[in-house]
Amino acid sequence: MNITDKVYYIGVNDRNIDLFEGQFIVPNGMAYNSYAIIDEKIAIMDTVDINFTNEWLGNIEAVLNGRKPDYLVVQHMEPDHSANIDNFLRKYPDATVVSSKIAFQMMNQFFGTDYAERRIVVAEGDSLDLGGRKLTFYTAPMVHWPEVIVTYDDFDKILFSADGFGKFGALDTDEDWACEARRYYVGIVGKYGVQTQALLKKAATLDIKKICPLHGPVLTENLGYYIDLYNTWSSYGVESEGVVIAYTSVYGNTKKAVEYLAEKLRENGCPKVTVNDLARCDMAEAVEDAFRYGKIVLATTTYNSDVFPFMRTFIDALTERGYRNRTIAFIENGSWAPTAATVMKKMLEKSKNITYAENNVQIKSAVSDKNLEQLEALAKELCE
Ligand code: FEO
Repeated sequence: MNITDKVYYIGVNDRNIDLFEGQFIVPNGMAYNSYAIIDEKIAIMDTVDINFTNEWLGNIEAVLNGRKPDYLVVQHMEPDHSANIDNFLRKYPDATVVSSKIAFQMMNQFFGTDYAERRIVVAEGDSLDLGGRKLTFYTAPMVHWPEVIVTYDDFDKILFSADGFGKFGALDTDEDWACEARRYYVGIVGKYGVQTQALLKKAATLDIKKICPLHGPVLTENLGYYIDLYNTWSSYGVESEGVVIAYTSVYGNTKKAVEYLAEKLRENGCPKVTVNDLARCDMAEAVEDAFRYGKIVLATTTYNSDVFPFMRTFIDALTERGYRNRTIAFIENGSWAPTAATVMKKMLEKSKNITYAENNVQIKSAVSDKNLEQLEALAKELCE
């Protein structure tokens, strides 16, 4: 696949993967992107996952037409991109590795060598001349590991953005970009909003016509759309108006309250109501929703003087990603000593800029008439 006259896609689609990074379900697989820049000098941009060594080396051969690569640029050392560094360097003994200082330390950890005899260490703003173009490197620490660099090609005006602007899903799938890019961003990079903002500020100084990430499609049009979304996500802004209800229910009583609330929210004209049963849904999808919308209702049972386990996992996933700038309401259930709301509020105490709803609901075993009134009041408050 040609991206420009001299930039080629040489990545692979993974349709066999069960869990990406050991935890994320990927119903449409995953793409590990890699690119060849074929100028007077040839640079290969990153490698691919270990299960695709031969396919990827074959892709390189197919686009190089008998020429040999001069450089392997390593932007990120997570093994979905770095696993084939050593295989590549064995196949092309004259090639030089170009990467950050921290990445070479990681190569030593992964491969037992930091390639001291055949490497170029690059730092912020350093360039590599390929003849017809210059590649300039910018550090992007914690987007998504500390060693990450991104690369700007000044001839084709391409930003090679490493994990930034990546998404779940193989490239032979036709699906909405934002949905799986958001789940990817929030799940994988979400904790590092400040660092992502820093990267966006650097990118804003460049004239970018195309974005080539390490996962998901090459972005060639309407780049403002993608950059605006990344800006919202990384600044913990509200992307969509609406209310998310995240709940657990053991015998269906809390679920009844949730369903009643959802109905009342819709009746009150709430633009979007999303309900996630945390014991059964994809947790990463529920976390994504919590960061997408501005208001969230957490509904759960008291359990071992704490909250039901799936709710604890969920709130931990929010707080470890810097959850903030949201309105939160609680529905707690407990047959003898309901404490879930207190526990949840305590779990969230480090979250910044949270507005707590006034109409919280306490259910004792089953939903009472009084609870129905409280749920109606909560629906009204959240729709104001
Ligand atoms: Fe796609 Fe952080 O590796």
